[in-house]
Amino acid sequence: MLIQHFDLKVRFDQQEENSESYLLPFIEMTKPMIPGTTVMEVGTGEGGVLKPFINHGCHCVGVDLAAERIVTANEFLANEVNAGKAEFVCQNIYDEEFLNKYRNFFDVIILKDVIEHVPEQEKFIPYLRNFLKPGGQIFFGFPPWQMPFGGHQQACRKKWASVIPWYHLLPRFMYKGILNIAGEHPSIIKELLELKDTGITIERFERIIKKSGLKVLNKRHYLINPIYKYKFGLKPRKQWPPLSWIPYFRDFVTTCVYYTVG
Ligand SMILES: C[S@@+](CC[C@H](N)C(=O)[O-])C[C@H]1O[C@@H](n2cnc3c(N)ncnc32)[C@H](O)[C@@H]1O
Repeated sequence: MLIQHFDLKVRFDQQEENSESYLLPFIEMTKPMIPGTTVMEVGTGEGGVLKPFINHGCHCVGVDLAAERIVTANEFLANEVNAGKAEFVCQNIYDEEFLNKYRNFFDVIILKDVIEHVPEQEKFIPYLRNFLKPGGQIFFGFPPWQMPFGGHQQACRKKWASVIPWYHLLPRFMYKGILNIAGEHPSIIKELLELKDTGITIERFERIIKKSGLKVLNKRHYLINPIYKYKFGLKPRKQWPPLSWIPYFRDFVTTCVYYTVG
């Protein structure tokens, strides 16, 4: 277990620093973040990812299904919320009232480390388009399912269970058996098994984007995910380009991908 798993301020600060150094510059390669730009983050957690966008004068809406995380976001960003620069809501984005309020409203939608948790991405990704202004863009950052820790096994409490790569790819009953032997909490086992159903590969993601009528505007693949600085003390590294061009194989050796689509 890492400090950010229980210290929410540490987690928030990491979200903010990572967003400022990596997400915001990547998104700005295709859309400048000027005052008044409207930004929604789906799966905002504690809201740290949106802080640099608020600092740039964007109007931000953070949405999450986890009520306690929205409470924390409203606490950590109370000044920004009170100043009307941001709002954080516990919300299912399929809710009709929410859709009617924000239809064609956002210049940018951000999903960072979220799409791999969402069921039925084939339905979810095209649905997101309803919230975009004409010319709006969606950013996705996620760990491909087949990468060494694509099962999120770093969430395990037992050290050995959190550092062994690729065992999330074993058949379900074997994976579950190992997690049981490690004595993981039933809630963690449930979460990790759910991810086995929703985890997404680079190929499937790109297929869904194409089928949704969206175009890839920018992409970056990482050998070492920028957030591994906080998880494992590693320096971020982009993937060696020829490896990024080899479909299927690249999924096993790419720990994070960034895409902007629109
Ligand atoms: C791994 S956290 C990422 C938090 C933050 N984006 C970050 O990068 O640190 C995933 C978050 O997505 C939220 N989430 C998952 N599915 C969602 C959905 N359909 N709608 C809104 N939030 C969702 C979860 O509740 C969780 O807070």
